[in-house]
This record gives sequence, C-alpha cells and structure tokens, in this order.
Amino acid sequence: ANITYIEASGQATTLKLADGWSLMQGATANGVDGILGECGGSCACATCHCYVDEARLADLPPASDNELAMLDNVAAERRPGSRLACQIKASAALDGLIIHLPDMQE
Ligand code: FES
Repeated sequence: ANITYIEASGQATTLKLADGWSLMQGATANGVDGILGECGGSCACATCHCYVDEARLADLPPASDNELAMLDNVAAERRPGSRLACQIKASAALDGLIIHLPDMQE
C-alpha cells in the first residue's frame, strides 16, 4: 500500500509498504523523521503518534483498549484522528492513506 507521511515541517514522503508492515516500521526504516518508535512497536511508548486523515479512519481496524490508553500519553495534541503508527498494519485497504505527523513525540 502507498502511504504518505506529512511531517510537521510540511515535508511529504510516500512509501510503498508491504502488507503487514506497520506504519511505524515503514517510517523508521525509511528515514521519516517524525516518528520515533522507541518501544519497537509494542504499544508502550506513544512516540509513534500520528494523525490519520479522518475521512479514512473507518478503513482502519479500531484502536485496541491498550492503544487508546497509550494515546492518553502522547506528547503532542491528541486529535480525533490520533493513532499509534505501530498499531496500524499496511494492507490494500489503506492504499493512498495520508497521515500527518505531530511536531513532537516526546
Ligand atoms: Fe512505541 Fe508505537 S512504537 S507505541
């Protein structure tokens, strides 16, 4: 799936992610700076916070209770489209998704 990351600076990067890769893995493996992913994807650090385009939120599986709890700890403003990028797996359903990255992750 093609995923576009837009950093707080406005820098946009589109990556083609294999199915099953998390949006956090894709960003950190390809030098997208706005995601840290300090816990390695185990939903325990909240440094992979991103804002999903609200029009596409329904294309994503809903956040788990654990993810929702971690979203209480994000460094930047929490918004309706806030998700943790390590909990979103690339799939055909997400093709063309745009996510915005917050101005801080910690
Ligand atoms: Fe730590 Fe997503 S990488 S919560």
